[in-house]
Amino acid sequence: MCGIVGILGSGPVATDLVDALRRLEYRGYDSAGIATVENGHLQRRRAEGKLRNLETRLLTEPLSGRTGIGHTRWATHGRPVERNAHPHMTALVSVVHNGIIENYRELKAELTALGHTFETETDTEAVVHLVSDEMQKGLGPIEAVRVALGRLRGAFALGIIFAGHDDLMIAARQGSPLAIGHGTGEMYLGSDAIALAPFTDTITYLEEGDWAVLRRRGAEIFDKSGTRVERPLIKAVASSLLVDKGNHRHFMAKEIHEQPEVISHTLANYLDMAAGTVNFPALGLDLGGVTRVTVSACGTAYYAGLVGKYWIERYARVPVEIDVASEFRYREPPLGPGGLSVFVSQSGETADTLATLRYCKASGQRIVSVVNVRTSTIARESDAVLPTLAGPEIGVASTKAFTCQLSVLACFAIALGRARGAIGPEQEEELVKALTELPRHISTLLRNEDEYERLAHELSKARDVLYLGRGTSYPLALEGALKLKEISYIHAEGYAAGELKHGPIALIDENVPVIVVAPEDDLFEKTVSNMQEVAARGGQIILISDADPSKAGCKLAAHIRMPKAHQFANPLLYAVPIQLIAYHTAVFMGTDVDQPRNLAKSVTVE
Ligand code: M6R
Repeated sequence: MCGIVGILGSGPVATDLVDALRRLEYRGYDSAGIATVENGHLQRRRAEGKLRNLETRLLTEPLSGRTGIGHTRWATHGRPVERNAHPHMTALVSVVHNGIIENYRELKAELTALGHTFETETDTEAVVHLVSDEMQKGLGPIEAVRVALGRLRGAFALGIIFAGHDDLMIAARQGSPLAIGHGTGEMYLGSDAIALAPFTDTITYLEEGDWAVLRRRGAEIFDKSGTRVERPLIKAVASSLLVDKGNHRHFMAKEIHEQPEVISHTLANYLDMAAGTVNFPALGLDLGGVTRVTVSACGTAYYAGLVGKYWIERYARVPVEIDVASEFRYREPPLGPGGLSVFVSQSGETADTLATLRYCKASGQRIVSVVNVRTSTIARESDAVLPTLAGPEIGVASTKAFTCQLSVLACFAIALGRARGAIGPEQEEELVKALTELPRHISTLLRNEDEYERLAHELSKARDVLYLGRGTSYPLALEGALKLKEISYIHAEGYAAGELKHGPIALIDENVPVIVVAPEDDLFEKTVSNMQEVAARGGQIILISDADPSKAGCKLAAHIRMPKAHQFANPLLYAVPIQLIAYHTAVFMGTDVDQPRNLAKSVTVE
């Protein structure tokens, strides 16, 4: 987490640093700060909370200087107060950091004993004093950083500037992404290419263990052993441009409404709609020979993977093992040779997903990733990439990325089933048609949001909300609960409808709304029985279904009427009402919908 930037400019850089940080706020917004070299001295401005607080401070206390670094923080070590905000500095050196220095305690003890005074609770400050200490011993800045890097354990992306050195910045990457931007007589550093989009589209990505010496005329890159290396120059794609909210109140609302379009784009990438067939890219392996798939991801992306499991097992007849990425590798699952491992991630930078990818790679699996950011680390470390074409997703709550992930996984299930002979041409055409009708159905759904506003009023009074679903609606129940709790802060849990009577039913009373995701499919009758169990205990049922409400066989507090669609396509369709319920409840409650408390869009720590 955290976003870092650096600029060696031809003029004052403070405004550009803030501009770049604005593009990185999705990585954290607990505090922000910038530091520059001003007349040979290091100066900084920091502010607790969102970037706008730093901007306000800079109005009254501006910073000049052509060399600077900046940071937007998601707190790991130390409370989110100004004292702990980056950049951290001594009189000699200033540092911005993304990641965790795991051995900071021992470094701090050692440096304190040598007379260094620590002012913060952060792990990052150990880096500042370590480099300063080497410089005080007489090393130049480059050599001092080289020695310090050798002492650091953990994951980090670092940007470092030095007092008295106007044309020098050092960058280092181990476990956290870092991009160098090339300008004309100017150089840039950023956690990703999006941060640098206003300045340059010519990017070099540092590789694991790389560190780089930047000057205005260019960059010299070294690998972990200190050997000078060349890394390719890449043209960043235009999707890095900063998007705006259009005429929506929040990014989340805009992104929910973009779904018909981005799902269409994504499906068009994998389907021949006219022919009614999948048109899947070569993955460098014989899909017909795949006998086992593992899927791993975090949060919403994990729930997309869980829907994928139901599809792949049912339609392609291939067993799927799935786990959250933060647990997968700790089980040390035996992975036989020739297996296929699928990773799902919007950002492509999620630390746990990346670590699991590396575990599976080391176990000889073929690595396929479903990612939205094509230049991300997960994409670059995969054998094959299945991009979601959702465009930049800014709201922390994932919406359009989720449905685009589902789109890709649905196409993958058909392609796998066809290759294995589990799906014949007729069924392929039927499933492809089901998907191609989705954007139209979703557009219809998005035309009427009044009922969600009414529902929000009721839900906002609840302390706990339960979500129930069976089959592919079970992951949607999990996703619905996650969406509601992350942006409205109402406690919510998702359960497999059949599990209710094994414990959670004890929670039901007339104050607990129970949102039931139940398309009229082959599992509907069983879910109806579970609804009746809830109704018998006075629970307030909100049914999301295409079935006539009379079929519920019990009193409903509300019914969200869904269009009739093919069972295969339903998870994409039913994702929309659960997003709208969460969105309108959060808006009604006045929370910060796009940047909910304690969260960040890109989770680059384990
Ligand atoms: O970037 P990723 O898809 O790998 O992120 C994984 C989760 O952090 C993410 O899906 C998170 O759960 C959502 N922001 C929730 O809406």
